Amino acid sequence: MAASCLGRGVVRLLGGLRGVGARGLAAPRLWGSASAPAAPAGSYQERIALAASEPAAFWGPLARDVLVWDTPYHTVSDCDFRSGRIGWFLGGQLNVSVNCLDQHVRKSPESVALIWEQDEPGTEVRITYRELLETTCRLANTLKRHGVHRGDRVAIYMSVSPLAVAAMLACARIGAIHTVVFAGFSAGSLAARINDVLQPHGPDFCQHPEQPESRFSPEPPAKCKVVITFNQGLRGGRVVELKEIVDEAVKLCPTVQHVLVAHRTDNKVHMGDLDIPLEQEMAKEEPVCAPESMGSEDTLFLLYTSGSTGTPKGLVHTQAGYLLYAALTHRFVFDYRPGDVFGCVADIGWITGHSYVVYGPLCNGATSVLFESTPVYPDAGRYWEMVQRLKINQFYGSPTAFRLLLKFEDSWVKKYDRSSLRTLGSVGEPINHEAWEWLHRVVGDSRCTLVDTWWQTETGGICISPRPSEEGAEILPCMAMRPLFGIVPVLMDEKGNVLKGGDVSGALCLSQAWPGMARTIFGDHQRFMDAYFKAYPGYYFTGDGAYRTEDGYYQITGRMDDVINISGHRLGTAEIEDAMADHPAVPETAVIGYPHDIKGEAAFAFIVLKDDAGDADVVVKELRSVVASKIAKYAVPDQVLVVKRLPKTRSGKVMRRLLRKIVTGRAQDLGDITTMEDPTVITEILSAYQEYKDKSGAAQ
Ligand code: WT7
Repeated sequence: MAASCLGRGVVRLLGGLRGVGARGLAAPRLWGSASAPAAPAGSYQERIALAASEPAAFWGPLARDVLVWDTPYHTVSDCDFRSGRIGWFLGGQLNVSVNCLDQHVRKSPESVALIWEQDEPGTEVRITYRELLETTCRLANTLKRHGVHRGDRVAIYMSVSPLAVAAMLACARIGAIHTVVFAGFSAGSLAARINDVLQPHGPDFCQHPEQPESRFSPEPPAKCKVVITFNQGLRGGRVVELKEIVDEAVKLCPTVQHVLVAHRTDNKVHMGDLDIPLEQEMAKEEPVCAPESMGSEDTLFLLYTSGSTGTPKGLVHTQAGYLLYAALTHRFVFDYRPGDVFGCVADIGWITGHSYVVYGPLCNGATSVLFESTPVYPDAGRYWEMVQRLKINQFYGSPTAFRLLLKFEDSWVKKYDRSSLRTLGSVGEPINHEAWEWLHRVVGDSRCTLVDTWWQTETGGICISPRPSEEGAEILPCMAMRPLFGIVPVLMDEKGNVLKGGDVSGALCLSQAWPGMARTIFGDHQRFMDAYFKAYPGYYFTGDGAYRTEDGYYQITGRMDDVINISGHRLGTAEIEDAMADHPAVPETAVIGYPHDIKGEAAFAFIVLKDDAGDADVVVKELRSVVASKIAKYAVPDQVLVVKRLPKTRSGKVMRRLLRKIVTGRAQDLGDITTMEDPTVITEILSAYQEYKDKSGAAQ
């Protein structure tokens, strides 16, 4: 085994030196070796301009310098938004786990890869790159022994932990595709993700003749054979019954052959026929495992996210382009420097955890913090006590947590030493002025750089953020501001015309492909095309609106579709409606998002009851529990209002925009209601809403 690893290493070295893919391209060297990163050459403006005008000249040399290849790529990029073809570093072969682990183990095996900040206050566990590689290899061998092959899917339903990171990297090592499912999702949501595409959609499923080495394989989609979980999870001092939820889910999943169960607590859980004790099996395996050599465009992982219609979509991210983009943005947006401790408190179940807890930091050889707890456990000082104890240099969190924390006394922040902090980052939803100022002034003592970062599950990494920028360049509050390398934003008006100049608002599109973007939706390329490339042909439509200032800075104004953002968790209102639709007493519902002090947005459900529905309060209670068990607790509507009818157009479409106006106190200005079937519905709903508000002191 050792000999074959060495052999591969030599090939890689030669490949890197030859740099066949990028020969002849003159470009500034942006990156040094991991131990001594070079300062990016050229001014920020020059680098941005090059990435926009000549993507291949920008990305080609970077990929060659930054990543460790088995075989160099022959083509930097082959992308066409009209046909939905997106391919980067074609012909290249590499292994993502080698890039995240082996290359650092060769140079400094004892440097710390992960600091696991456990739920129990004040407890941390440090894991070196050597240990993480060994654990990953043992887990990879365990997967292989239990029948997982290259291209198979593995579901990971685990709380934030080194073993969860090792599970992701073990999949990458053997070429399996991981699907991390946030450990707050219900059994139903987990089962739906495991079962996705049991039947391929149509005969030409994902076939792409021009790109044989891409993920558009003519093969039917891979089955999910294995689920990895913990006996239980711990969060905020409470036990979460992860294994029980998996038991319930896999009853619905015919392809699952094994459930690998690791132990987070000492409590025993029932072990059934499918269940295998993970640590015991890993102990039998070798701590080395030869990495699979993967094509740049082979699938690395699927991650599910909500859209405005239908079930959540499994976005496909591939190997080389994703990794390079995560590493580049991690380094430049946060000003990460070797030796820094990088603290992103996101859960690994979201894209932020994938790109900025796992792949970006580890590819850069960083020390990455794994945060298992909550911002208020045991008290509102948790984050800042952790910053002091672990000497965190970059802290990346969500506006919803900042809004929650600023309601407490500043002393919860001030009593801890935060002098290690250099960069503060915010992600997931618009950050309001109060939260921005608090983060800047109280947490950052007005001396840290604050970056509001805009991106999406689909984009793979940060696309718009105040940094990188010229030294000393201004940063304006509550604005993502500047597009990153290779990101070319365009604003569109309602008719699909490109808006020029400053002081304009429109639909935010990106006109050019970048290496980190998702390649397709698992098993349904047509849905990918329809969701992102149909509204504005030739452009990727983000679903967000944005405003561009006279100076060319971008400010995100929010979603333009029926997607809402509850505490930074993205959810389609249709998903909540679908979950409630199964209730026999509820023929119709309409869900909208409304502004919420802490969560950013919360869900408001309007429901119609059948005449014989019985006690409305009982039905409402049942509906809440249906949503919790079908989707997740955070999806449960904060407000539920029983109405006689919903406002509809003559063609029967529910006019959610009118409901939004009523709930946000703008009922005097309903806009155009000429298409409405029966305008008296509005008066009906307004009086029901008034009564509801008087009774419950409900939403504004
Ligand atoms: C949606 C993507 C990207 C990681 C976490 C969320 C909203 C994200 C910002 C921001 C305003 C933001 C957008 C976007 N969003 N960051 N800095 N300012 N809005 O990923 O679950 O895929 O959600 O979150 O609406 O489309 P996601």
